[in-house]
Amino acid sequence: MDTVVDVPFRLLNRKAHINSIESYRAMHTRSIKDPEKFWGEVASEFYWNISWKRVLSYNFNVRNGPIFIKWFEGGKTNICYNALDRHIQEGKGERVAFYFEGNEPNTFTSYTYRLLLQKVCKFSNALLKIGVKKGDRVIIYMPMIIELIIAVLGCARIGAVHSVVFGGFSSEALAIRIVDAGAECIITADGILRGPKQIPLIPIVQKAIGICKDNNLVVSKVILKNWVGFKAEDEKFISWDNLVDTCKSECSVEWLDSEDPLFLLYTSGSTGTPKGVLHSIAGYMVYASLTHRYAFDYHEGDVFWCTADIGWITGHTYTIYGPLLNGATSILFEGIPTYPDGGRFWSICEKYAVTQFYTAPTAIRSLMGLDSHFLEKHDLSSLRVLGTVGESINSEAWLWYYKAVGKQKCAVVDTYWQTETGGLMVSPLPGAAPAKPGSCALPFFGVQVQVLNPDGTPAAAGQEGCIVFDRPWPGIMRTIFKDHNRFEKSYFSVFPGHYTAGDSGFFDEDGYLWVVGRIDDVMSVSGHRIGASEVENAIALNKDIAEVAAVGIDHEVKGQSIWVFCVLRPQGTLNEGEIILYSVPNLKLKLAMVELTNDLKLKVRQQVGAFATPERIVVVESLPKTRSGKIMRRLLRDIFSRVKKQKLGDCSTVSEPQVIKNLVKQAMTLQL
Ligand code: WT7
Repeated sequence: MDTVVDVPFRLLNRKAHINSIESYRAMHTRSIKDPEKFWGEVASEFYWNISWKRVLSYNFNVRNGPIFIKWFEGGKTNICYNALDRHIQEGKGERVAFYFEGNEPNTFTSYTYRLLLQKVCKFSNALLKIGVKKGDRVIIYMPMIIELIIAVLGCARIGAVHSVVFGGFSSEALAIRIVDAGAECIITADGILRGPKQIPLIPIVQKAIGICKDNNLVVSKVILKNWVGFKAEDEKFISWDNLVDTCKSECSVEWLDSEDPLFLLYTSGSTGTPKGVLHSIAGYMVYASLTHRYAFDYHEGDVFWCTADIGWITGHTYTIYGPLLNGATSILFEGIPTYPDGGRFWSICEKYAVTQFYTAPTAIRSLMGLDSHFLEKHDLSSLRVLGTVGESINSEAWLWYYKAVGKQKCAVVDTYWQTETGGLMVSPLPGAAPAKPGSCALPFFGVQVQVLNPDGTPAAAGQEGCIVFDRPWPGIMRTIFKDHNRFEKSYFSVFPGHYTAGDSGFFDEDGYLWVVGRIDDVMSVSGHRIGASEVENAIALNKDIAEVAAVGIDHEVKGQSIWVFCVLRPQGTLNEGEIILYSVPNLKLKLAMVELTNDLKLKVRQQVGAFATPERIVVVESLPKTRSGKIMRRLLRDIFSRVKKQKLGDCSTVSEPQVIKNLVKQAMTLQL
């Protein structure tokens, strides 16, 4: 029996937007039966310079021609206007948009909607002044400071396409994204403050620009925000402060087509280079706003906090756009949960009387492991809704979140979605239905989710299958930048007529969805999505490596950690013949192994970023492969993951069963 938790819904001290399962079902049915009417009504809340002619047109089936999705065609609007100006027109200019809480607890300030708009306008003018135009791609590589949000909205105001790159990516990873986006403008800062560390960004950006040049892309405009105090020797960099200083604090709005691009966000697939997920303006706007309002039961006067870095989709939708579109007050936090001590998140919740708190299971698990006084000394009574996202949450962590943080008075919402979906797709709604720890519950309005068997038939309750979505919702990505073919192949070819999420899961008897995990070779480390191929390509740069497989192995706090399995080249510096694989026999070889391990880790840090550093490097005799020669990463995962050690899944396609036997033996000697 699943544990069912329904206390908080009755305890929610304000009336929830959706306060019964019946009203949820009625509204969900309405959204499915007549999506045009449903979404048309939602969209009417926004300001449109020209109203749309048609709510939705699409083709979701590759057999009927190219996939396309168009929402609110013929309409002209602007998401920055709807996020800022609209609220000021309605007399809410003095409301706080963001409480900025710096890395150091004594650095904090607030930005009203009016002040934020002025700063955004100045920055939009600055972009125009240096020649950035509508449709140009702009890379934003910055710490979690207000200028990052200003840069994003400043682009959106003039119709430039922002592409935020997470500040933890290396220069190589940054360069790949700049080149793919064809961006000639980068907005960055001198460095990042992360707990006790000061991380310089300038050398990373300079190196990335060099790599771009080698790839025939000249980055001609770099705007640099002085933040940490590192010196920029490069006179090519334009100082943010000097540039905006002379710009006016009003800037007219560029009215854009509903389907004009809003942003690119690069994410990992199972193979190949990162995909430039493209979201367009109007659909994303409507979806970000509605999901934020309902899934977090947002009401006026609330203080909302999504801890996600803006470098990821969660930060785009629920740190920036969703809350601003609803005129909400949110927190922007620059630092980390454990600095200056393990109570930082809770002290911020108390300081600003946060009502909705949204974070990732990995953060919850790491805070759960700390001394309880970090939590107990803070008054968390303002909290009403606790959200989680990024990976499945184990019931132990869920219950700790619910009991220790929420004091059994808060709704816990486990929101399941992806970079590609733009906003959350499956989630409990606070006040609408009881939750089950570990399940992301029921589809959001406009979402039709199914679990399919390999033959395309719906899986029975309790049966694991592929998670698919049957029809477009407004927040769905429109294409992979410059590669529509890959878009169709990645998401629409497995089950024609459905969008395939790439995850497996099952429904229980109550129709609640349980996500099991990725069915492809995408890894999730502390909620960061990392493609096996990105790590493998870095490892393969070492000349001693003949073959490599990177696999996400179960990890108590991070969800998964990266293990790299490699086969050495026979004629390499390290002679394979000399290596006895299950134990390292002598000092010379031991040192050689240490050196190899260090070099491989360094390669991943350089090519991808420190957050993707492998936890372990395991030299193996051979990798398990199918008869057609494909590496079976899933089998490696099963063999080396602690919890799944017993069940190996289907080995029938392995070309050489002896390989499996050897690997199992090796896994045992690694003393898991
Ligand atoms: C993948 C998408 C969307 C925000 C953060 C991640 C996994 C996401 C859940 C959840 C189980 C989840 C899926 C998905 N995932 N949320 N609540 N329960 N799994 O975005 O980097 O695009 O990763 O994260 O595997 O496909 P992303």
